[in-house]
Amino acid sequence: MLKIAVLVSGGGTNLQAIIDAIENKVIEHCKIELVIASKPEVYALERAKNHNIAGKVICKKDFSSHQEYEKVMATCLNDNQIDLIVLAGFMTILSEDFVKQFDKKIINVHPSLIPAFCGDGFYGLKVHEAALQKGVKVTGATVHYVNEITDGGEIILQKAVCVEAGDTPQKLQKRVMEEAEWDILPRAIGEIANQKFLNNN
Ligand code: GAR
Repeated sequence: MLKIAVLVSGGGTNLQAIIDAIENKVIEHCKIELVIASKPEVYALERAKNHNIAGKVICKKDFSSHQEYEKVMATCLNDNQIDLIVLAGFMTILSEDFVKQFDKKIINVHPSLIPAFCGDGFYGLKVHEAALQKGVKVTGATVHYVNEITDGGEIILQKAVCVEAGDTPQKLQKRVMEEAEWDILPRAIGEIANQKFLNNN
């Protein structure tokens, strides 16, 4: 069984997509062990609670340094014997040191077709604002491994989504989530879980 920690900062619709895929047996051999939020009172924690998944808040500003913050985060992940860390709308940047400790064990969902509209400063609605500003006709989402370069790790899955006339950043964000993110994030996890299952059998 692949033990997953999902790291969140907001509404948690991607977390919900993973929960649903597991509950509906769309993906197998995995379990969400823990949801870690970067701040209290995010709706993602409510979603975890509704499905009897342990939730925890680890808030960067409660620590005297980023190093101290990451030490507590790493201890929590190791104590729970987490196999895969899923960044699902997680808005705290993790250092090179942290990422190296969990090589090929962290994945992220990004709301564009990497390498377009990604890297430092491109997150949430800003990504869709930039896509509309550029006038692209196709955008989408990417699931990738996390390395020391923001949005620079190996790509696992991508899915394209059409931009439509009259799109606002909000409308485009919703379509990219519904058509791409909520599909490819659970699927990527399922593929990693299947691989672990096959390797162990
Ligand atoms: C998602 O669109 C995700 O791709 C994006 O934040 C949103 C979180 O929504 N992440 C990034 O921009 C990371 N660079 P959610 O909390 O409803 O899953």
